Amino acid sequence: MIKIIAIGDVVGKAGRQALAKSLPLIRERIDPDIVIVNGENAAGGFGITKKIYKQFIENFSIDCVTTGNHWHDKREIFEFLPQAERLVVPANMSNVESIEMGYKILEDRNGNPFAVINLIGNAFMQPGNRNLFKTIDLIMDRIPQNVKVRIVDVHAEATSEKQGVGRYLAGNVSLVFGTHSHVQTADERILEDATGYITDIGMTGPYESVIGIKTEAAIARMKDNERKRFEPASKDLWTPFIEVSVDPKSGLCHSIKRYRWELSKLINDDQK
Ligand SMILES: [Fe+2]
Ligand SMILES: [Fe+2]
Repeated sequence: MIKIIAIGDVVGKAGRQALAKSLPLIRERIDPDIVIVNGENAAGGFGITKKIYKQFIENFSIDCVTTGNHWHDKREIFEFLPQAERLVVPANMSNVESIEMGYKILEDRNGNPFAVINLIGNAFMQPGNRNLFKTIDLIMDRIPQNVKVRIVDVHAEATSEKQGVGRYLAGNVSLVFGTHSHVQTADERILEDATGYITDIGMTGPYESVIGIKTEAAIARMKDNERKRFEPASKDLWTPFIEVSVDPKSGLCHSIKRYRWELSKLINDDQK
């Protein structure tokens, strides 16, 4: 059985600190074969830099970094993306030129092939993105038959759309997880005895905030339409994630478990 860990949107420096604290413990306790992290907010809350991508891959040994609507916020990504073998951007986003940029076929530490697919929602997201469901069809046709382990990050606002994607792919992929809302949902389950599913893993980062952004600026924008600069918050670090086991021969999901590590409590517990 392959053990997969998926970690939701890492927000800013605090998110990277949460990741740095959690990952060694996750590796010690769960010993995963594959670790996938959504990095769309890793650099100052918006986008990802080459330095952070390299840190994720080389220092944290993350197998694949997925992204979302903020993938391009740090313009340097346009330079390093073509060489970034473990980075995917939403295949159907309007500014993503080819669907090849939206999926990768990689190998786990035992040589088992797996595919990671990144898609963006059409509902309540920026206009102009291509049809999510039709893009999935195109990608599924291109993934070789021998790649049984297929993992989908659906980066979307609407819970209904994410459930739709889960149902659409049930039986044909190993795992569909949602990102983008920055709030973990409690609906993890296995669809059609085959496909692990959760609507959103939740944000990795500072929870004394409004979805990772400093509270004052977020409220000023909502209440008075003030365009205060959005900065990531820094306090109360949590790492929510899922642990999923998949049979590498069939690609079927056998279990999905949801975690919500509040780091201050976790560290205190360890010291008891
Ligand atoms: Fe995000
Ligand atoms: Fe997002």
